[in-house]
Amino acid sequence: SEPVGVCGQIIPWNFPLYMFSWKIGPALTTGNTVVIKPSELTPLTALHVAGLSKEAGFPDGVLNVLPGFGSNAGAAIAAHMDIDKIAFTGSTAVGKLIQSEAGRSNGKRVTLECGGKSPLVVLDDADLDLAVKYAHEGIFFNTGQCCCASSRVFVQEKIYDAFVQKSAQLAASRKVGDPFSEEIQMGPQIDLKQFKKTLGLIGKGVEEGAKLEAGGEKAADVGYFVKPTVFSNVTDDMTIAKEEIFGPVQSILKFKTFEEAIDRGNNNPYGLASGIFTKDLEKAIQFSQLSQAGSVWVNTYLALTSQLPFGGFKQSGFGRENGEDGLHEYLETKTVAIAISQKHS
Ligand code: NAI
Ligand code: MG
Repeated sequence: SEPVGVCGQIIPWNFPLYMFSWKIGPALTTGNTVVIKPSELTPLTALHVAGLSKEAGFPDGVLNVLPGFGSNAGAAIAAHMDIDKIAFTGSTAVGKLIQSEAGRSNGKRVTLECGGKSPLVVLDDADLDLAVKYAHEGIFFNTGQCCCASSRVFVQEKIYDAFVQKSAQLAASRKVGDPFSEEIQMGPQIDLKQFKKTLGLIGKGVEEGAKLEAGGEKAADVGYFVKPTVFSNVTDDMTIAKEEIFGPVQSILKFKTFEEAIDRGNNNPYGLASGIFTKDLEKAIQFSQLSQAGSVWVNTYLALTSQLPFGGFKQSGFGRENGEDGLHEYLETKTVAIAISQKHS
């Protein structure tokens, strides 16, 4: 194998350092050069690390940070004739645009990570408190601004009411405020657009008949703070069960049978992650076989490490980051067949 060449990378604002390292790590390790565009909302992290890379002795031109807006700096990378590969993390709409721009220009290689609507299934034999805790962190971590958030929690009917009650209590106790303060567990949404989107979808949840169990409104008079919100009686056809909210909104759905939970979990255009809580190992294995998701977490959630490949099925994108798979995305395989002259007798 050899490096692909010049790699364009476009990253979002929700994890400015994490996304930056997931992108440049495998690309540089395999010998490529990088032109990376941070989100216009969070350019400073990438610029700071670019400074550190200079201090660390990176040769000029190997790591290039290009801050700017998506519609010009981002679009220019996607359409560039001298960029050999593009890796993108962000919205599905922009991911599709990048794929078509790549095809229209020079057929550059594309990998996309485009968010999700990940199901977390809780069977009635599960450790209830453990499941409540992971489901809570799964959706409220990083203020819900997480591509693999557990945004659809399917709970088996026997334990449904207890699960909802414990989840609502936990959400109501989550401390929202200044993210630089140590006792605070959740900060604001990134900007006015995301704040409005979250509150708008909460409104839709109420309007379409979901039961509000906690939160449901802004958490302060200034800033973009939203209260940790929990909905019960959510059904598959509701907007909050279908759209990626990217905010602190937990939707809890009820199911009867294991088969039903698998089918309903898969019944979504996304396929980034899924989870199951159960003490039944056979069911856990069946679930991991049938779940249409790039990462399946059993009795845990958000198990992300640099050794484990991460990426999507279906409209969550394609290609993997991290693990050995993540390296292959930045390598071109070359087959060399050499004919050896034959001895004639
Ligand atoms: P976005 O997809 O517009 O932004 C992500 C990156 O793409 C940014 O660097 C942006 O500058 C760039 N970009 C935007 N338009 C572009 C274009 N035409 N060509 C090339 N690059 C372009 O995401 P946005 O608008 O900030 O958030 C909207 C929704 O997308 C969120 O509510 C959330 O649902 C989802 N999202 C998912 C993320 C994930 O981790 N998968 C991350 C951020 C947002
Ligand atoms: Mg956008």
